[in-house]
Parts: sequence; structure tokens; C-alpha cells
Amino acid sequence: MSAGPTSFCGIELAHPIINASGTFDAIAARRAFGDAVVERFPFSAYVSKTITPAPRAGNPPPRLWEEPAAMVNSIGLPNKGAEGFLSTDLPALADLPVPLIVSVMATSAEEFSGLVEAVSARDEVAAIELNVSCPNVHSGLIVGEQPSETEALLEALRPLTAKPLIVKLTPNVAAPASVAAGAEAGGADAVSLINTLKARPMFAGKPWLGAGSGGLSGPAVRAVALQQVSDVAAAVSIPIAGMGGVESGSHARDLLDVGAEVVAVGTASFRDPLAAERILIELRGLDPVAASSATSEL
Ligand SMILES: Cc1cc2nc3c(=O)[nH]c(=O)nc-3n(C[C@H](O)[C@H](O)[C@H](O)COP(=O)(O)O)c2cc1C
Repeated sequence: MSAGPTSFCGIELAHPIINASGTFDAIAARRAFGDAVVERFPFSAYVSKTITPAPRAGNPPPRLWEEPAAMVNSIGLPNKGAEGFLSTDLPALADLPVPLIVSVMATSAEEFSGLVEAVSARDEVAAIELNVSCPNVHSGLIVGEQPSETEALLEALRPLTAKPLIVKLTPNVAAPASVAAGAEAGGADAVSLINTLKARPMFAGKPWLGAGSGGLSGPAVRAVALQQVSDVAAAVSIPIAGMGGVESGSHARDLLDVGAEVVAVGTASFRDPLAAERILIELRGLDPVAASSATSEL
């Protein structure tokens, strides 16, 4: 896969570097740094923080823990809810110079359906990412841990929208490739992985995080991401957005080489909000054809 313009489930992208959901707040960045953020936007598509049907306050603090090569977060999906997002955030995000992917999560097929219909009705939205790391209130099972639950959810959602549906896979299963195959069988247009790995940091004999446990991300998960993307690529023919611990062009190159179509930068953006710009430049440096055909610096 080249570092130049690319197409991801029918969406034309200027290059293969996008953001990972929940790790780059484009609205806050614009508030802090002004229009420069839009003019020099580091991603070729913008993936929103996951939204849920109703507003959520998120988890009790503390919400973050640092490990030597990773962080653990238990942010808990704070968001304005679908209505608040669609009326307030979406118009602001529509100003970004790239296609918008909206990430949604719910706890039943009915709730997911409502979200998909509401988001799909908006022209500003290019695609919908389904965050399936949540329990189904009817079965009690985590949807994304079960190939059959994932397939059934996609079968319910597929007829509701013509926009691409991307399934965000959890790494917390023995065989993510089986869940990816379920997503593909149900009609998904793409999968994205990896989400964070379940983690429980301890401090003075007690769990540190207010929620007890959280999700591990950053460099420590990179080899896990490479394994899982490679397994999923062998199992499905729909495109893959690969992510997990990407900090350099060569890390992005590795994910493309094992089967990803695009690469998302997540935790790296917290340390350096322009990490994605540097990663793209490094990636292009590894790909002389893309470097010479690049029409702009980004
Ligand atoms: C602080 C934080 C918040 C996140 N929020 C979301 C989210 O709202 N929805 C989601 O699907 N993934 C979320 N993620 C997971 C990332 O999108 C990504 O899958 C994961 O962090 C692995 O990539 P990385 O190692 O490059 O960060 C979050 C990750 C972090 C660190």
C-alpha cells in the first residue's frame, strides 16, 4: 500500500494517515491553536470521539495512568449524546478539510439503529464507525467479543444506511479474525483495529483508576496490533484501518505491510499534536513514489 492518495471503503483520502477515535479533539485544538489547525490538518479523515444515544459524563477520576511505554485510560466515553453531537459538534467538525467518520456506540441493536439512522441522515458524514466493545443489554454479551453477535448487529444496521460501516474491533478476544469475519458476513465495509487492551493499574494495593480498570494503548501494544491486523487481513477481504502504538513512519509502514489500508495515530497525538504530520512525512520518505507525487507538504 502506497503512502500517497488512497481510497478507503469508497472514501477518497489524500494519504493513509487518519486519527484514532477519542485521541484528537479537533474542536478543542482549533479553540487553542486557531485556524492553523484546519489549514494544516494532519489527518486525511477525521474520526470523532465515540458518541452514545444519551449524554454521558464519563468515568470517575482518576482516568489516566502512565506505564513506561503505554498509557491506561478509563475516560468512559464522556459525550454530549447523539442530539448534542449532531447539533453542536458536527457543524464544527464539518469545517475540517477532510471526510468525517462518526464513531457510535450503543447497548442494543435498537439503540444502534437509532444512532446509525440519525448520523446517516447528515450529509457532512462520510462513514460510520461502530464501536462494538459494549454489552448487549438483551444478551449480556460484549457484542464485539462474539462473531455471531457482531454479524447479527451488522445485519440489523446494514439496510439502514448507504454510508460505509466500519467495525472497530476489540483486541480482548482470542480470535479477532473470527469477529472480523462475522462483521464482513453481516455486511461491514471495513474493520478498524486495535482498540485498547483491558488493563488494571495498581497503586498502594488498590486499583488506581476510578473505574477500577481501563484500556492500554501506545507503543507497548504495537506488536499486538501488528499480529491482529495481520490475522484479520488473512481472514477478510474488506479493508482495514490499522492502529496501535504508531509513533513513526516506519511503524505506519509496518501496519500497511501486514494488510492495513490506512493507519490511525492515537496515543502519540497526546504527546505531540502534530505527530501525525511527522509520521506522514516519514512514511513518504520510505516511499519515493509517493514522495515525488505528493502535491503539497501534507
Ligand atoms: C484517551 C483515549 C480515548 C479513546 N477513546 C476512544 C473512543 O472514544 N472510541 C474508540 O473507538 N476508541 C477510543 N480509544 C482507542 C483508540 O482509538 C485506539 O484504538 C487505541 O488507543 C490504540 O491506538 P494507539 O495505541 O495509537 O492509541 C481511545 C484511546 C485513548 C488513549
